[in-house]
Amino acid sequence: MWKGRFQEEQSDLLKTYGESVSIDWQLFKHDIRGSIAHARALKNAGILTEVEFASIEAGLIEIGKEIESGTFEFSFELEDVHMNIEAALTNRIGPAGAKLHTARSRNDQVALDFRLYLRDACETLGNAAKSLQRSLLGLASRHSEAIIPGYTHLQRAQPVFFAHHLLAYIEMLDRDRGRLADAAKRMDSMPLGSGAIAGSTITLDREAVARELGFSKVTTNSMDAVADRDFACELLSVLAILGMHLSRLSEDTILWASAEFGFLNLSDRHTTGSSLMPQKKNPDIAELARGKTGRLYGNLISLLTVMKGLPLTYNRDMQEDKEPVFDSIKTATDTLVILAEMFDGSSLREDRALEAASDPLLLATDLADRLVEGGVPFRKAHEIVGALVALAQQRGTPLNELTQADFSAASTVLTPDIVASTFDLRLALTARRTTGAPSPKNIATEITRWELTLQ
Ligand code: ARG
Repeated sequence: MWKGRFQEEQSDLLKTYGESVSIDWQLFKHDIRGSIAHARALKNAGILTEVEFASIEAGLIEIGKEIESGTFEFSFELEDVHMNIEAALTNRIGPAGAKLHTARSRNDQVALDFRLYLRDACETLGNAAKSLQRSLLGLASRHSEAIIPGYTHLQRAQPVFFAHHLLAYIEMLDRDRGRLADAAKRMDSMPLGSGAIAGSTITLDREAVARELGFSKVTTNSMDAVADRDFACELLSVLAILGMHLSRLSEDTILWASAEFGFLNLSDRHTTGSSLMPQKKNPDIAELARGKTGRLYGNLISLLTVMKGLPLTYNRDMQEDKEPVFDSIKTATDTLVILAEMFDGSSLREDRALEAASDPLLLATDLADRLVEGGVPFRKAHEIVGALVALAQQRGTPLNELTQADFSAASTVLTPDIVASTFDLRLALTARRTTGAPSPKNIATEITRWELTLQ
């Protein structure tokens, strides 16, 4: 639109290849907020009159409303959201609109818009993560007494409360929320005033702009401010880690929902059938969530790769920054929301879980602990119990159904009382009293603590 030094029309191919408005139109609200703050700074510096400022502000607000209602027509010819909005403004209000870009470049403009957008996204994502925590806590509370086998190497290891397993994910999600809040802190520097690279000879009150836009400070190096996208990379890395957690949660869900485990009931609303096999009820949500983690990782690698070879400062390569970030924000938000709904509609088959958790082999370690209490060194105790496990397997009997003669022969510590109490599942859990271990009392305390925290 601004011909300036160009004598020829731009190639149609370049227009299509170079446009970003089909993606960055999503920045419109933040672009308009930023432009109003910038216009106010221009007014305060005497570059715009009160009347010009008022018409710019009104024009921008009107354009914002039109974009929101879907009546605004974006033009590819105008390349990006910034030029679309500025051109529309000048069309509407005349010469005052053409003053808006004074002491500003699209380089600091987009650096601002992207920070504003991502700061909001951190909050939305944090809230969605909190909702999933609440949903998991609800499931834990509905089955607060239920016991399942805990696994290492996907082999039954030791009994735990189902709630303990879910609370583990609540902890992980809490750290994800912490990382989102930290990432938002790194976005809390206002870049406007950096211009294209070296600021401007027209001095504006950057601090006032920062205050208006809710930043606690301004950026302190104009080249850094327009050149770096580390804040976007940081958010993508936070979302990649979040994705890793959601994927593991999904994997546990998929296993638990299988006939082999048979622990988890998913609602009909949150499962799908097979086009061929009439009996199937598939945990597609969890599978998709696991699969979409690929995008969350890929988007991080995309942006890191875009940025890695760029000489300071702005390079057009950086226009490739928005698509992966928008995609990760949408993917992570949608995944958090749908997993929360899925867990709200699911329940544990307590009988099945208890049956699996009642395998006495899960208490072999506890038996070794009793030997230790009777003065046997742990390594020796480990060996003795290992031999008892092998013996039970040879005989084809459960570990707790070896004869008293077998236990006594293994060690005089293993009296009938000791053996009986060791293989009592409830007692075994009650004994796990150390901080962080799943005694019934600890679990109740943790559920209450999280209920208060997640209110
Ligand atoms: N659409 C561009 C982007 O997102 C805005 C900045 C363009 N700056 C420039 N000098 N061409 O990167």
